[in-house]
Amino acid sequence: MSSATPPDLPTLPGRIRWSSATAAFQIEGARTEGDRGRSVWDTWVDTPGKVKDGSTAEPGADSYHRWTEDVALAKGLGLDRYRFSISWTRIQPDGTGPANRAGLDYYSRLVDGLLDAGVTPFPTLYHWDLPVPLHDAGGWTGRDVVERFTDYTALVAEHLGDRVENWYTINEPAMTTLQGYAVGALAPGEFLLFDAIPTAHHQLLAHGHATRVLRENGAKAVGVANNHTHVYPLTDSDGDRAAALAYDALHNRLFADPVLTGEYPDMSEYGVDLPVRDGDMEIIATRPDFYAVNFYNPTTVTAPAPDVPIPFDIVPTPNVEYTGFGDEWAIKPDSLRDLLIDFAGRYPNLPPIVISENGASFPEPDTADDGINDVERIAYIDGHIRAVGEAMSAGVDIEEYTVWSLLDNFEWADGYTQRFGLTHVDFETAKRTPKASYDWYRRVIAENRK
Ligand code: BGC
Repeated sequence: MSSATPPDLPTLPGRIRWSSATAAFQIEGARTEGDRGRSVWDTWVDTPGKVKDGSTAEPGADSYHRWTEDVALAKGLGLDRYRFSISWTRIQPDGTGPANRAGLDYYSRLVDGLLDAGVTPFPTLYHWDLPVPLHDAGGWTGRDVVERFTDYTALVAEHLGDRVENWYTINEPAMTTLQGYAVGALAPGEFLLFDAIPTAHHQLLAHGHATRVLRENGAKAVGVANNHTHVYPLTDSDGDRAAALAYDALHNRLFADPVLTGEYPDMSEYGVDLPVRDGDMEIIATRPDFYAVNFYNPTTVTAPAPDVPIPFDIVPTPNVEYTGFGDEWAIKPDSLRDLLIDFAGRYPNLPPIVISENGASFPEPDTADDGINDVERIAYIDGHIRAVGEAMSAGVDIEEYTVWSLLDNFEWADGYTQRFGLTHVDFETAKRTPKASYDWYRRVIAENRK
């Protein structure tokens, strides 16, 4: 990566909205306060060996107590919108029953604080923190959770719908299915391989029902935040190209096609039937107001060895630089441009695109006494904003760009070993220190408003 800040600020060929994002479990701490219940991520962090550095997300950035500082950071950037998530277990500690007042009040204060600061709140209803009792009842492998999620959505929408107009329903169903249920790299840590596929259907169905409930409560814009990756075959061989198609189907099409076309890609070769019932696909394909894409990196695949039970092998993307995750996370901004152009071609009815997450982690110190000159992050974001601009110039309708993340936070199974923030957080003291990228992003936003 370049070791110097790019000399000119990226400017886009049209106006978009600018945002930055966080998620409840990753920043809030305060896991027993206000009668918050336990989610699958509490179980995960309490299980020895599951989190790389043994950390528990507690108190972490402690945003539950310091949210006014975070609103000030959002305002200081000049954000149009702030993406945060609502913790299901603060609203319904056990995943069912009436709303917990303390939880509603917390998010109500946050929403009011953002509105007072001139930043539009754009919450996500579900960013991976499934209540434990619902997991024990089958979690996303079963269908009951769909009704539970719809009830939860109604409680939140009835309370915040007078002030919140824009909503993400579910964050990255693909990661929950693939990492959470198929290979167990994230909570709830199941290893079901292809038997995880039904969890995709239940999440998408929950998204569809939630869309209706949110609109009934005044929502103007609702969508699901899907994680997408541009898939490259390592070589032009038939085997590698078949592997790329298979990975594209499982990571991208399984989650985009039903929402955008009302049909699943063919999964029969994996011996799995999607548990679709009459009427489900119409609900899932309820037209979203925007199509949200979380994008981080491309994926390069090759044909698997003959004895491997999955139809691809993920390999490092060659000839690029990598983020703090090493060769698992390639830096290739062109792949975002190509994905966006590809999607516009694949899905003729594609609604306007919102880039709902994009960002990168790099090694940074635990304290920020001398400031953090994160030129690699600036170069990463700069490259991806330019890629968005190129896609716009090629005719793709893009209405928003979001940096992950406003703050350094708890990076799931990687604990505090990966820092993604525009703002450094000292996890001993929760002190926030804006990094060089914060100031740079502030200037990008201002420049693009001229
Ligand atoms: C998730 C975030 C996560 C980020 C970086 C996204 O997949 O939505 O919660 O921190 O990637 O790994």
